[in-house]
Amino acid sequence: MKVVVVANFDSMSAEVAKIVYGQISKKPHSVLGLATGSSPLGVYKLLVEYHKMGTDFSKVTTFNLDEYVGLRPDHPQSYRWYMEENFFSKVNIKKEQTFIPNGVAEDLEAECLRYEDLIKQAGGIDLQLLGIGSNGHIGFNEPGSEFGTITRVVDLAESTIKDNSRFFESIDEVPTQAISMGIKTIMQAKEIILMASGGSKADAIYAAVYGPVTTEVPASVLQLHPAATLVVDQAAASKL
Ligand code: GLP
Repeated sequence: MKVVVVANFDSMSAEVAKIVYGQISKKPHSVLGLATGSSPLGVYKLLVEYHKMGTDFSKVTTFNLDEYVGLRPDHPQSYRWYMEENFFSKVNIKKEQTFIPNGVAEDLEAECLRYEDLIKQAGGIDLQLLGIGSNGHIGFNEPGSEFGTITRVVDLAESTIKDNSRFFESIDEVPTQAISMGIKTIMQAKEIILMASGGSKADAIYAAVYGPVTTEVPASVLQLHPAATLVVDQAAASKL
């Protein structure tokens, strides 16, 4: 895996936005795998700027990594809402080409299989963006997730519920489950970019880059991917 160390959050965002731009320029019908959380916010902002300068998203298809179970798409903490707010509504992407698991589907198991199938039908993911949890999770694949997993319902780790409670009024409101692409789903992407910023990610980044490849640090699996790049700022890279 390639590691690119940049100065700070803004330079990380610029570097990743440039990679996404390059992908869309090379292949207007790209299938992008998208992430949520604070890490990609700067990337989406810059992509909106690229759009204002003429970048066309009309042929792009997107698949998000995950969605909370139990949050409707119009819940302000749902990942559908996040994506609409921060990206989709600000570029000319076609809504029917943006996919996010439905966390309120009546049959969650069927929803997971449907999602996996949709990715296949789209021809697979060309470029997958990832953040990383402080415990090394990718998507919502918590420590212990097997490398053979596909899209499924997962239980969130206590540490993740705590980390993500900052977005909710109280910790009791944080959903305890999510639908997440599996490790295998993520690893099938042709190219993967993981971004991380800030000292709170330093241990996870160290373990992902130098640690053994283990299900205990889900991001360490990226060492086995033929085209994975980590774009990290100096604080996140401080233990490398
Ligand atoms: C969440 C998401 C992950 C994300 C991680 C890190 O739990 N499911 O996809 O990478 O948190 O979030 P942040 O970028 O806000 O640190």
